[in-house]
Amino acid sequence: MLRLAVRVRREDAELALAELLALAPAGVEETDLGDRVEYAIYGAPGELPSLPDLRAAAGDALVDVSTSEVADDWAQRWRDFHRPIAIGGRLRVRAPWHAPAPGGESLEVVIDPGQAFGTGAHHTTRLCLELLLELADGTPPGSRGAAMDAGCGSGVLAIAAAKLGWAPVAGFDHERASIAATRDNALANGVEVAATRHDLVHEGPGPGAPLVLANLLRPLLLRVARDGFTGAQPDVLIASGLLAHEADEVAAAFAEHRGLREAARRHGAEWAALLLRRA
Ligand SMILES: C[S@@+](CC[C@H](N)C(=O)[O-])C[C@H]1O[C@@H](n2cnc3c(N)ncnc32)[C@H](O)[C@@H]1O
Repeated sequence: MLRLAVRVRREDAELALAELLALAPAGVEETDLGDRVEYAIYGAPGELPSLPDLRAAAGDALVDVSTSEVADDWAQRWRDFHRPIAIGGRLRVRAPWHAPAPGGESLEVVIDPGQAFGTGAHHTTRLCLELLLELADGTPPGSRGAAMDAGCGSGVLAIAAAKLGWAPVAGFDHERASIAATRDNALANGVEVAATRHDLVHEGPGPGAPLVLANLLRPLLLRVARDGFTGAQPDVLIASGLLAHEADEVAAAFAEHRGLREAARRHGAEWAALLLRRA
C-alpha cells in the first residue's frame, strides 16, 4: 500500500483539491499544516495517479509531492480515507466495513481493497462498470450469457457482471494475488466467478466468452485484438485502460482483427473506454 502526499499553499488549496478529486474520485485525506495543506491518497501501486498528473493537477499551488510505503497504521488510515463509489446511480462498490446503502435499491459489489487492482475508484474501472450497466439495459435478462473478465484484479467487473445476471462468469489474471482476491471477493458477494491464472504475454490468447470485459492497457488490448481468444469469441467486448488519445487506435484494431465495432465510448478524466459489438 502506498501513500501519495501532495502539499499545496493554503490560499490555493480549494482549487487544487477540486483538481485532485478529478484524479482521485474516492476522496483524499486532508491534513492542516498551517500555511500549507497536505492531501494524501492511498492505493495499491499502479492504481494511484502518476506523479506528473498530480503535479499538473496541483498546478501553481504545489509545494511538494512525496510517496511513502504505508506502515503500521495503514489499515485504519485506509479505512478512514476509502469511500463507497456510486456508478450510474444504481451500482455501488463499497468496502466490507461500509454500511450497505439505505433502502437497498442499488446493486452492491463489496470489494476488500488493497489486495489487487480494482477498488472501483479508478476511472478505468468506473468506465467499464458504466458501460456494463448500459449493456445490461439493452440486454434482456434471459439473454445474458457467459462473461469473461480479462485481467480480473480484485474481480470487481466479474462480480458486477454476475450480479447483473451474466452466467457463468469467469476471470483470469497473471498475478496470483488477483486470483485469490477475485475468489475471496466473489465468495463475499455470494456469486460464482471461476478465476484462473493466465498470462497474456507469456502464454498467448486467454479464454474468451460472448461478453469480455478487458480493463487492460493499450499494448495488451492491441495484443488481444490481434491474437483473439481461445474457445468462445466475444460478441461484445468492453475495453478500458485507454488514454483518450489511444481509443481510436484500439477501436480500429478490434474492428480489423475481430470484427468488433465501436457502439459506445465513455470518458473520465484522461481515460476512455469502448463498448465494441460484433457487426
Ligand atoms: C487495470 S487492472 C484491471 C483490474 C479490474 N479488472 C478492474 O477493472 O478494476 C489490469 C489487470 O490486468 C492484469 N494483467 C496485467 N498484465 C497481464 C497479463 N499479461 N496477463 C493477464 N493479466 C494481466 C493485472 O494484474 C491487473 O489485475
